[in-house]
Amino acid sequence: MAKKNLKTYYEKAKKQGWAMTQFNVSCLEQMQGVMEAAIAKKAPVLFGTSEGDSSFLHMPQAVALVESYRKETGLPVFLNFDHGKTLEILQSAADAGYDALHFDGSAHEFKENIALAKKVVAMARKKKISVVEGEFGEIPGGHSEFHKNTALVLDKENYTDPEQAREFVKKTGVDSLAVLIGTVHGVFHKNPPLDIERLQEIRNRVTCFYVLHGGSGTPENDLAAAIRNGVVKVNISTDLRAAFVLALRDTMAKNPEEIAPYKILPPSIEAVRKVAEGHLLLMGSANKI
Ligand code: 13P
Repeated sequence: MAKKNLKTYYEKAKKQGWAMTQFNVSCLEQMQGVMEAAIAKKAPVLFGTSEGDSSFLHMPQAVALVESYRKETGLPVFLNFDHGKTLEILQSAADAGYDALHFDGSAHEFKENIALAKKVVAMARKKKISVVEGEFGEIPGGHSEFHKNTALVLDKENYTDPEQAREFVKKTGVDSLAVLIGTVHGVFHKNPPLDIERLQEIRNRVTCFYVLHGGSGTPENDLAAAIRNGVVKVNISTDLRAAFVLALRDTMAKNPEEIAPYKILPPSIEAVRKVAEGHLLLMGSANKI
C-alpha cells in the first residue's frame, strides 16, 4: 500500500473535525519528547523547522530523523519547512526530502507573492510534495518568544480578507493557507481572542486547508472553535521551546556539577512530552492514525 501523505491526513482531519499540530523543533531531544507523546496518544505527527531551526538541525538530519521515527514507531510522521522565504531555501528542503513546504511571501507585494508561490507549487509538484502552504499578510508577534509583560493589541484591518484569500488560492494553487484571524507568534501577557466569524467568511469564499500559526498562548476555547470551523493544522513553537529550556535551567540549577547530557536532558524531554500531549489532546488528534 502506498504511504499515506500529509494531505491525506489534512483531508481526514477536515472531514472528522480535528487538527494536526505542527511541532516546531530544532533538536533531537525536542523531537524525542513529541514522539513519546505521539506514541502514547496514537497520533499522527507533523514536525516543522523554521529557517533558524533548520540551519541548526540541518535539513538532511531533520529528514533522516523523521524517517527513522516513522520506521521505528510505524506512526505517520511528517516534516514541513516553516516560513521559507525564498525559492532557493524551499528547493533545498524539497531536495532534502521534506514532506511539505510553507512559502512565506508576506514580505512581498500581493501580486509578486502570487507569482512566487506559483513557482513553489510547480517545484513541489515535481517533487511529489503533497502540501504547499501559502501566506499573505505577515503573522504578527515577531519570533516565538515569551513576552509576559506585553498585551498585544491587533488591528482587525490586517486580518485575512476573504476575497484576497480566494484570489490567492485560485491563482497559486496552494493546498493550504495560513489565515490571520487573531493568532500571533509567541506568548503574550494575554493573547488576542480569535475572530471565528472571519474564518467562517473565508470558508464561505474559498475551499482549501486553513491553518493557524501562533498556536502557543491562544485561548483554548478559541482554538477548539477554529478547529470546529475547519482549521486542520495549528503551529506550536514557543510552548515547546519554553518547556524544554525552563526544565533545563531547573535541572542545571539543581545539579550544577552534572556534565553527562544523558542525565541533564531527560527532564527537558519529559517537559516537552507533557506539553505536546496536551496539544495533541486539544487538537483532537489522539487515536487518528
Ligand atoms: P508559536 O510560537 O506562537 O507557537 O507559533 C509558532 C508558529 O506559528 C511557527 O510557524
